[in-house]
Amino acid sequence: MTKKYKFLIYFLFIIFQQDIICKPPLSFAYQELNWDWNKIEPINYVDLQFPSNFIWGVSTSAHQIEGNCNCQWTEFEKNKNLDLSSIACDNWNRYKEDIGLIKNLGVNAYRFSIEWSKIEPVEGKFNQEAIDHYHDLINNLKSNDIMPVITLHHFTHPIWFENKSAFENVDNIKYFVRFAKEMFKQYSDKVLMWCTINEPGVYAFQGYLRGVFPPGKRNIQQVGIVSKNLIQAHIDVYKALKSMKNGDKCQIGIAHSITQYDPFHIGNKYNPLQKFEEFLAYYLNHIFYREMLNFFITGLFEYKVPAIIQLFLTGTLPNVLNAQIKYQYCPDNKKYKSTDILDFFGIQPYSSVLIDCTNTKAEKIPSIRPGNIVTDMPYKICAESVYRAIHEASFIGVPIYITETGIADSKDDRRELFIKRYLYAVNKAIKENYDVRGFFYWSLYDNFEWNFGYSMKFGLYNVNFKTQERNLRKGGETYKNIIKNQIASS
Ligand code: BGC
Repeated sequence: MTKKYKFLIYFLFIIFQQDIICKPPLSFAYQELNWDWNKIEPINYVDLQFPSNFIWGVSTSAHQIEGNCNCQWTEFEKNKNLDLSSIACDNWNRYKEDIGLIKNLGVNAYRFSIEWSKIEPVEGKFNQEAIDHYHDLINNLKSNDIMPVITLHHFTHPIWFENKSAFENVDNIKYFVRFAKEMFKQYSDKVLMWCTINEPGVYAFQGYLRGVFPPGKRNIQQVGIVSKNLIQAHIDVYKALKSMKNGDKCQIGIAHSITQYDPFHIGNKYNPLQKFEEFLAYYLNHIFYREMLNFFITGLFEYKVPAIIQLFLTGTLPNVLNAQIKYQYCPDNKKYKSTDILDFFGIQPYSSVLIDCTNTKAEKIPSIRPGNIVTDMPYKICAESVYRAIHEASFIGVPIYITETGIADSKDDRRELFIKRYLYAVNKAIKENYDVRGFFYWSLYDNFEWNFGYSMKFGLYNVNFKTQERNLRKGGETYKNIIKNQIASS
């Protein structure tokens, strides 16, 4: 960042912090958590005791593994010159063989998504071949004693839906509900756990603020609109499915990404740099996950962001002064109850991030504290963020699942540590009576990592994309052994 730019930022900050636009208290209490791993490790992980009915799983999503999709992401890849997802892991043809890989891990659940663009490539016309494909996938999972968990929207949808402006327009929610109902009609006899939407916060943040996901926009106001519409879409789908046959016996929830942002500079409340980082961290949390989380706790979504944040985060000028969206859920003026719209809450805590205004390379080399270990993504291994996320989500008052977390680690020299630490954090929370029911590692195998293409290796199995050969990594062995030990001792 040049000196001139920095000066401009501080100048603007000083103006805006005077409570003209920025309403939230800048002294907002941040709770960065750093455990002393020297004291915790080595832990005899064999002794970690999870409840006997704990769900052990792995996660994937359709566009990232199936191959030959034709959705809004396929278009985006071409238009932005990204890696093309192309045949990905060719899971569409190799799903039976891949179920063998899942089985070999010893997990008892598999979370995957249904590719809406394959089911309904043309508006209103459902494709029987695609419907049958997922029937067969589900049947094969079940005959292998693996519980299927369906996600209905994992970042992708048909091009016709994108052309109608997708979730920017509240009137489009009905198309998603129609698709969800059809899927529930097809599979709810066999599938008992459903996630409506994967990471609404990431979808809105990456697609409408950073512009690195489709539709590639940068508009702080639209982030709020899309976030609100995704909440509404979740509620509409939840209500519709609950009123259908099997609605009462299925668990329906949402999967929310929780990445905490904290100021890098701490310890001196008069330091303007620290103040500025607190200010940015506050809004990043607010936009990315906290206001949505707050909605599920209180029934009120109150997105309120000084639009100048758009300039700070993206270098582009906002077209409003103050981005504000408010949504209150209170049917028939009844008191809000989270259990009216959720049976469980999925959290996806990968890490927490330090906002350091002196670091101009944060995208590539994040600021970290001494002793932190960075993953390939790049962010740090931070099991503390899982514990914090569980604590934050516990206020909703429904069972919690870690529906995803994982590490990009091409050398596979940090995956074992990651798995052990993150499971330690989950176990600690369970011992403290937090209601955590399951853990799904992301991901079964290497796959198409969105704007990072094939460069990021999240897999328990390595995939050779030339030959489609899959091989279990050492880190995968660790996960397998921990599960084996848990299941054997339960
Ligand atoms: C998403 C996945 C993604 C993973 C790793 C999550 O945000 O749900 O689709 O691959 O993180 O970045």
